[in-house]
Amino acid sequence: METTRLGVLISGRGSNMRAIVEACRGGRVPAAVAVVVSNKASAAGLEWAREQGIPTRVLPHRGHGSREEHDAAVVAALREHGVEWVCLAGYMRLLSADFVEAYPGRILNIHPSLLPAFPGLDAQRQALEYGVKVSGCTVHLVDAELDHGPIVVQRPVPVLEGDSVVTLSARILEQEHLAYPEALALLLGGGWGLEGRRVRLDVDPG
Ligand code: GRF
Repeated sequence: METTRLGVLISGRGSNMRAIVEACRGGRVPAAVAVVVSNKASAAGLEWAREQGIPTRVLPHRGHGSREEHDAAVVAALREHGVEWVCLAGYMRLLSADFVEAYPGRILNIHPSLLPAFPGLDAQRQALEYGVKVSGCTVHLVDAELDHGPIVVQRPVPVLEGDSVVTLSARILEQEHLAYPEALALLLGGGWGLEGRRVRLDVDPG
């Protein structure tokens, strides 16, 4: 099977990026990470990617024009590296419509709640404060609305008595590291289609 070239966008720690790289290298995802792009030079994940010999690009958004201009620079970097699918992994920026159209149906995001519950920032805190007994994580295709596109994989996580944001976040993160590779393996394997906003995984790949 041909190897799909992934671009991973991060803003911070990069543990999901790492899970994706390791799943590719371990043969669980038929892809390779061609480049890691960060809008923050201080993102800890960049250092790990560099140590691994993965090309990295830092494209700060502050002082670099409008959202559209910054996104155009990110898309240009992705194209330079032959990226076919884009994985947002803790990338703390809303994508412009132009970015979404540059990779139609080929951008994934991970969010630490069972969407559509608790979109946006501090999802784990939102879940805890709301008092839900189950939360989790969601991998979804990206559209121009925040944490909104068609859902590919969800993994539930119980909220336990005595949980803090820290303990709940850690339990959800373990599942995130399984969910992202799982979603990539499902989609890159083909045999899926969209029916409205439903991702159907039972489509004849033809
Ligand atoms: C994760 O919880 C992810 O769901 C959210 O941001 C966090 C990023 O963590 N979008 P990491 O940088 O992948 O470690």
